[in-house]
Amino acid sequence: MTNRYDEVYRRSLDDPEGFWAEAARDIDWYEPWDKVLDDSNAPFYRWFTGGVVNTCYNALDRHVDGGRADQTALIYDSPITGKIEKFSYRELRDQVAVFAGALRNLGVEKGDRVLIYMSLSPQAAIAMLACARLGAIHSVVFGGFAANELTTRINDAKPKVIVASSCGIEPGRIVAYKPLLDQAIEVATEKPTHCIIHQREQQVADMVLGRDIDWNDAVANAEPAECVPVAATDPLYIIYTSGTTGVPKGVVRDNGGHMVVLKWSMKNVYGIDPGDVWWAASDVGWVVGHSYIVYGPLVHGATSVLFEGKPVGTPDPGVYWRVIEEHGVKAMFTAPTAFRAIKRDDPKGEYLKKYDLSKFETLFLAGERADPDTIQWAEDKLKVPVLDHWWQTETGWPALANCVGLGTLPVKHGSPTKPVPGYDIQVLDENCNRVAAGDIGAISVKLPLPPGCLPTLWHNDDGYISSYLSEFPGFYKTADAGYEDENGYFYVMSRTDDIINVAGHRLSTGGMEEVVASHQDVAECAVIGVADALKGQVPLGFAVLNAGVNRPEYEICVEIVQLVRDTIGPVAAFKIVTVVARLPKTRSGKVLRGTMRKIADGESFKIPATIDDPVILDEISDALKELGYAKEK
Ligand code: COA
Ligand code: AMP
Repeated sequence: MTNRYDEVYRRSLDDPEGFWAEAARDIDWYEPWDKVLDDSNAPFYRWFTGGVVNTCYNALDRHVDGGRADQTALIYDSPITGKIEKFSYRELRDQVAVFAGALRNLGVEKGDRVLIYMSLSPQAAIAMLACARLGAIHSVVFGGFAANELTTRINDAKPKVIVASSCGIEPGRIVAYKPLLDQAIEVATEKPTHCIIHQREQQVADMVLGRDIDWNDAVANAEPAECVPVAATDPLYIIYTSGTTGVPKGVVRDNGGHMVVLKWSMKNVYGIDPGDVWWAASDVGWVVGHSYIVYGPLVHGATSVLFEGKPVGTPDPGVYWRVIEEHGVKAMFTAPTAFRAIKRDDPKGEYLKKYDLSKFETLFLAGERADPDTIQWAEDKLKVPVLDHWWQTETGWPALANCVGLGTLPVKHGSPTKPVPGYDIQVLDENCNRVAAGDIGAISVKLPLPPGCLPTLWHNDDGYISSYLSEFPGFYKTADAGYEDENGYFYVMSRTDDIINVAGHRLSTGGMEEVVASHQDVAECAVIGVADALKGQVPLGFAVLNAGVNRPEYEICVEIVQLVRDTIGPVAAFKIVTVVARLPKTRSGKVLRGTMRKIADGESFKIPATIDDPVILDEISDALKELGYAKEK
């Protein structure tokens, strides 16, 4: 028997142009497109070429003009500062229009880049939407990254203006953003002409005369700006994400296709109607924040919760339930790690009993593998469907999901279910052949990717091809490995590159190795991701010291940890490093990181035939045991 999902999915692949043209009718266009799918420059596919739109218009003005002016657009709930603030669509539109005017006063025009380095606040969303209003391209950098990461992004995006918060607020400490910004600009080769600083009352930053402008002054002197029509294929934003080296990739998102799929997904993937309250507990620095705190819910006319807090400790593990009750949340999206934290602090779900969750219908999890234990705990306690789904910064919206709006399919724990309409997902072997059901291979998406996915990397078409398209001709490489079962359910098991997922945050161990190796006493090093009960994975470093170094090893380890924190940022959660005499390698000199990870996680492993000296594995195992790893399962 076919269900609605099967029918819709089939149509999306048989007639992608008809399918997406129909979905595109839910967006307001200044000019309709000439072509739905433009393959004239394949493999650089474009959607809705010739179309003219504005994303901010669709996210705000359209709703103000269409009867939602007084509906709440955004609820800022900040247990960390004790504030709750609500913005109607009219209020948000007005504030965005004025901030767009402030940017325009600084010379920001269509196509210019604006970098946003802000804590999770309404002002971050306002800054993003203001860029969209002007047709400027924003690039949001997560607040947990350090100055060096910021510099890399400034040099690549070359922003005319940077919008930053004076500080971020983390449990128990204030993180001063402004000194990091100043440091980053000082060493950047591409300097912005101005910075607009949102001074948070928790820590007011020093300003650089002539360059920095206080947010309040910038808006006080601005007139509201109108929406600037842009091509559907013009970039809306760049978001940098970890690649296999320390150099992040600038994922580009367009305006037209992006809006079409986000609007479509709010109803069909997440089961949300305009007017419903929706909550994505993430940060605007991540793709989830772009797609499902800001653009998706607003383009759809829903109410979006912007939560500045943690699942536990702000103030307790009941805060999620409090937010759901207080704002009448219908569905929420978070990372499994958040639920592991709640389960750890409140295993019996005592806090749940204090709140009325009757309006809550679905919990969505993504960002890392959802372990069946956590899913079962959440199902048991919440008594609503708990749906794992899978996507990436590159795709911008879900690729594997249990689409609520198309009729929820039976849940299989450990599987994010089936391909979302628009995605032809296949598991391939190294010769690009589809493997049999149950066999592990490379999870790949047949080209063209659906609308909303990255059309290329920022100013790096070659990098787009070499990173994603060249290994499996005709397919996009996700760099995830997994399998499809005989019923078409997919299972995502691990990355095929050096990316690890720490508390749902994507990080490159290669990038961390570059930093560890830069320590004066380190001859060579390796960083691997090891299993962690709370964060899913955490990085663990091994350092081989230069000959003749005779300082205490613990001192060097402390310095290395600090170096990673200062260079990449606290978000890397790099806290463990150990000194070893040698690293296990193949005869050709390749470090056996996979084998080291298996030893650390207590998994069975075969000694690779190509290993140079197997004895080193015993040394590594001993070092790991001292750290509390390498326990036999
Ligand atoms: N600005 C500055 N620093 C930040 C930051 C920000 N926006 N966000 C995190 N950090 C810092 C934290 O303070 C922490 O620093 P520390 O080493 O001094 O403790 C470090 O970066 C790691 O942060 P985090 O990953 O949040 O770990 P945590 O131990 O503070 O909290 C959890 C653990 C599980 C509660 C937390 O990871 C969490 O809420 N996860 C939810 C998952 C999620 O939102 N994922 C987003 C992708 S969908
Ligand atoms: P990001 O680009 O930060 O969203 O990270 C994307 C990566 O996170 C994917 O390539 C996967 O490795 C991992 N990931 C995301 N969602 C899931 C999921 N539901 N199950 C398993 N892994 C996931």
